[in-house]
Amino acid sequence: MLDKINSLLSEISSFTVKNQEELELYRLKYLSKKGLIPGLFEEFRNVPPTDKKNIGQSLNMLKQTALDKYNSLKAELESVSDVSGISDLTRPSYPWELGSRHPISIVRNEIISIFEKIGFVVSEGPEIEDDDHVFTKLNFAPEHPARDMQDTFYVSRISPDESNPGDILLRTHTSSVQVRVMQSQKPPIRTISPGRVFRNEAISARAHCIFHQVEGLYIDENVSFADLKQTLLFFAREMYGKNTKIRLRPSYFPFTEPSGEMDVSCTICGGKGCNVCKYTGWLEVLGCGMVHPAVLEACDIDSRKYTGFAFGMGIERPAMLKYQVNDLRLYFENDIRFLGQFKTAF
Ligand code: PHE
Repeated sequence: MLDKINSLLSEISSFTVKNQEELELYRLKYLSKKGLIPGLFEEFRNVPPTDKKNIGQSLNMLKQTALDKYNSLKAELESVSDVSGISDLTRPSYPWELGSRHPISIVRNEIISIFEKIGFVVSEGPEIEDDDHVFTKLNFAPEHPARDMQDTFYVSRISPDESNPGDILLRTHTSSVQVRVMQSQKPPIRTISPGRVFRNEAISARAHCIFHQVEGLYIDENVSFADLKQTLLFFAREMYGKNTKIRLRPSYFPFTEPSGEMDVSCTICGGKGCNVCKYTGWLEVLGCGMVHPAVLEACDIDSRKYTGFAFGMGIERPAMLKYQVNDLRLYFENDIRFLGQFKTAF
């Protein structure tokens, strides 16, 4: 009997299978009820008691070895069949899902690249700002309505003194970045500040409490209103097409004097009048003006030697015109169906 056990052991150890059918044959031959190993257990009954211990141990070892072999053959077959699924080299690859730029980023980059052509460099600053950079240095009177809680999101309210710059708030415009540039650099300064700004507005299709701006600042000796106008005309033609016309209307900002608002001929109807321009032929695109001497002085720039101009525009509106988006909220919802439409833009 020991001989039989040993010969089965060597048979089993060299047994190989190529597929499930062969594995089943293995099971039937050695392990099934009528298989060789249960057969040996039948024979075991007739073994004389003196040999029982010795042969019993060998028989149990054989059974265990056969079971282990069965499990390892089975695992081998399963791992082979896993691989066969991906080893078809002719199968087309899975499509890679590529992301796309947000429409606001696309338009922002476009505006930046236009001003970079004429020597403006990008500057950035904090979104959480202090009252000094957002209002005081920009010549806002202490009681100016923009400082009101209705317009500004306050983080913490602190009364200003020599050691602190006053309230901490979310910037309402990126002019605060320009204050930081004026404080840290000497003229000539030619910079644009793109960024996110916050105003306490009710959210609707036409207004949001978060939006984006690009503001520009140019300070040097002898900078004039004519320079401002030519710079803006260059920008309008690059951005909206070479036949675009501009017009400047008088306006008011505490930090510029004189101040203006620039309109461009309607990009939809070319100036004839349509429902986008409310039949005026013009679209309002930005605020601008000559930097107020009080602002230069507050930032330690000699206002007798230097003059400058500044301008600022929102990004959402031109992006709405460009892509015919009719609801501002779409920009902030991150709906893949909306964002996926901008794949071809840079
Ligand atoms: N800071 C202004 C705003 O937020 C825009 C502006 C910038 C106007 C520079 C004039 C000069 O609307």
